[in-house]
Amino acid sequence: MPLPQLPTVWNVYNLRGSPFFQDTLIQGHERRSLDLFVGRRKELTDLRQYLHGRDSSRQAIGGAPGVGKTTLVQMLKGQLLADGYLTTDSLVPFVTGDTPESLFGRVLGAVYDTILANRPMAGDHPAMQAAQQMVRATRLATGGAGISVMGVGGNLSKGVTLSSPKDLLIDGPRVLRDLMNMVRATDEARGLLLHLNNLESLSGRDVLRAADLLQSLRDPMLLHEGLHIMLVGTTDAVHAVVNTHAQVRSVFRAPVLLHPLQRDEVHALLQVRYEQWKLQPQQPVSAPVHPSAIDRLLDVFQGDLRGLLKALDDGVEECIGLAAAPSAAAGAVSPAVPPVGLAELSRALQTRYAAIMHGELDDVRARQIHQWIDSDPSASRNQKDLMALWDLSQGTVSTALAQLQEHGYIVARPRQGRQPIAYALTGKARLIGGV
Ligand SMILES: Nc1ncnc2c1ncn2[C@@H]1O[C@H](COP(=O)(O)OP(=O)(O)OP(=O)(O)O)[C@@H](O)[C@H]1O
Ligand SMILES: [Mg+2]
Repeated sequence: MPLPQLPTVWNVYNLRGSPFFQDTLIQGHERRSLDLFVGRRKELTDLRQYLHGRDSSRQAIGGAPGVGKTTLVQMLKGQLLADGYLTTDSLVPFVTGDTPESLFGRVLGAVYDTILANRPMAGDHPAMQAAQQMVRATRLATGGAGISVMGVGGNLSKGVTLSSPKDLLIDGPRVLRDLMNMVRATDEARGLLLHLNNLESLSGRDVLRAADLLQSLRDPMLLHEGLHIMLVGTTDAVHAVVNTHAQVRSVFRAPVLLHPLQRDEVHALLQVRYEQWKLQPQQPVSAPVHPSAIDRLLDVFQGDLRGLLKALDDGVEECIGLAAAPSAAAGAVSPAVPPVGLAELSRALQTRYAAIMHGELDDVRARQIHQWIDSDPSASRNQKDLMALWDLSQGTVSTALAQLQEHGYIVARPRQGRQPIAYALTGKARLIGGV
């Protein structure tokens, strides 16, 4: 007889486990399928129509960290696949230390893989055979393939030698063009979509380098008939990559910027997750978190869905069952265990994130975060404000900002014209002050 499944505390809400995963959605995945996607209808239609109307296209999508950029492109790719375009769940990262050869090699490899994944029989075609040799040589030299969305966040840059065969840029463009001709000529595909991602993991200098790379590779890499490019990153990064050089700007559409999901859309996002993660299909599911607690966390995390979901994942489980059961109003059926409320959730997260901060940061940095929280946690501040708040020189503030940003305690707000860069505390930092 099979053993019964062990109960988890989530079962009290008729849930099989935590519904608050933070990974992007993937078509066909058991728990993370695109059936969970909400909102963004306008952006999807807009991106898709632009692409449909062109033989080849280059679009850029910008937005704050965690706002849902990668997931939007996943959805778009699902739709475009149904429309007859070739695409895969992989994305092509930019990597610190990239050279024109290494980036071109990665793109060629991604095009090759995309064709192979969608049309395995095409492997015998002369264009595919030529590409295969080149991709093999490149990968052996660099160890770098594209990364599946499963591996997003993995850092390819560590320990990877980025020297590709030097003749790649001599023969490669022709090989890529032949591949694209094959896509268009020998089967029904309308084109091929590539997803260039991870600009967010690059430092300012590397972003400018990415802009230079696209400039130097524009004709051989970006401008092939049938090839559609989707470039994704934080707002400032995509602006810099697309707009630094006129030659790149002239072939890209102006970046589409993603706004945070609306409040009701976030509630809907959670509701579909609860429904999908139900334990007993015939029984109703009850929300594990009080809607007012979600609202307050949304204020703290702004549009950062990833941060919000992580806080819920981190905080809710340990609070389940701790709130006193309310006395049921006459006639109303209340769940046996009430949803977790703001008070207990805030306390749990405050303790947890303070402990994490003291593990990640030294005492000086931790004190700087506390000073910011104590004066006004929701304020945006530039370097000059912080020199005053922390009583430090510009150089020292700059070092502090870089470190705090790297550990996810602050984010740079998108630049406004020539104004100095303003920084804000992330939700993770603000929770340390309680909500
Ligand atoms: N429209 C949406 N519908 C449902 N879930 C979404 C939507 N957008 C984002 N999510 C969820 O929010 C989380 C973060 O989304 P995603 O990884 O796409 O953000 P991102 O902007 O690419 O983040 P990063 O800046 O870290 O790359 C994921 O768990 C994803 O499933
Ligand atoms: Mg992403």
